Amino acid sequence: MGRSFLSLSSLSREEFDQLLNRALAGKKNPSLWGKPLLGKSVALFFEKPSTRTRLSFEVAINQLCGHALVLTQNDLQLSRGEDIADTGRVMGRYLHAIMGRVKSHATLEGLARSAGIPVINGLSDKFHPCQALADFMTIKENGIGAGSKFVFTGDGASNVAHSLILGAAHYNCDITIATPAELLPHADVLTIAARLGGKVTVTQDALAAAKDADVLYTDVWVSMGQEQETERKKKQLAPFQLNEHLLAAAKKSAIVLHCLPAHKGEEISEAAFESPQARIFDQAENRLHVQKALLEFLLK
Ligand code: CP
Ligand code: NVA
Repeated sequence: MGRSFLSLSSLSREEFDQLLNRALAGKKNPSLWGKPLLGKSVALFFEKPSTRTRLSFEVAINQLCGHALVLTQNDLQLSRGEDIADTGRVMGRYLHAIMGRVKSHATLEGLARSAGIPVINGLSDKFHPCQALADFMTIKENGIGAGSKFVFTGDGASNVAHSLILGAAHYNCDITIATPAELLPHADVLTIAARLGGKVTVTQDALAAAKDADVLYTDVWVSMGQEQETERKKKQLAPFQLNEHLLAAAKKSAIVLHCLPAHKGEEISEAAFESPQARIFDQAENRLHVQKALLEFLLK
């Protein structure tokens, strides 16, 4: 039975640290990687669009000497009603791992139960753990350590916010989620964070939250699949933009992060996005390094 990675809660704090350190070492010295995926095939399954996840996984697998198969829902008999359990059982006979970007987290759980090989969450409605690994790698790379103040402003119920809450617990830093009262992080995620020893503050005041922050982070207001909620969410989230006022309140050394894609002028101002404090494209690059460490860890 393969070990899956559907959420950061499946890692111990030591494993989380080990993955970040391995990714940082491999970024500095790519010859460390060797060929851990030689002779191994990994499916990359997409029910939603992707730029970074698609590219970084395909390149990572190629650089680790494995074979990546990119599949959309329409490529499979799933589109004609074959069930997820049978699909998983078949995939497990051919492949060594599956990365899935899915509409419903339950699809990943179904694949993980049936495939018998590691299943990696490349974004679900509930979590985006590969993104959070890259985010904490970026924070570490910038010398921001345990005990720092991490502020997320935006949709507190988003997949990205949920994974950052669990990542902060592993990283041992305080996280503040500035979000409207209608978009609070899900209670079960807060319960898991508490179990992992996390300290989470939820507030409706983004500017006060940003005071003395080491990291300012935001994500799109309207996640994939929520398009029918656009007008309502834009109104609710307007006071939570990551902008120069928040940057002025944060520490001078603070960094600005965004998982991308960005809607400049909505969740982040153009000035904050282009600020010298932004590390957004290093963060995107780090998806590649951290996913190599994850693939090596799960497939060794
Ligand atoms: N951040 C992220 O997951 O980007 P994509 O949607 O382009 O994969
Ligand atoms: N919360 C966003 C993240 C995109 C990478 C979404 O789900 O669309």
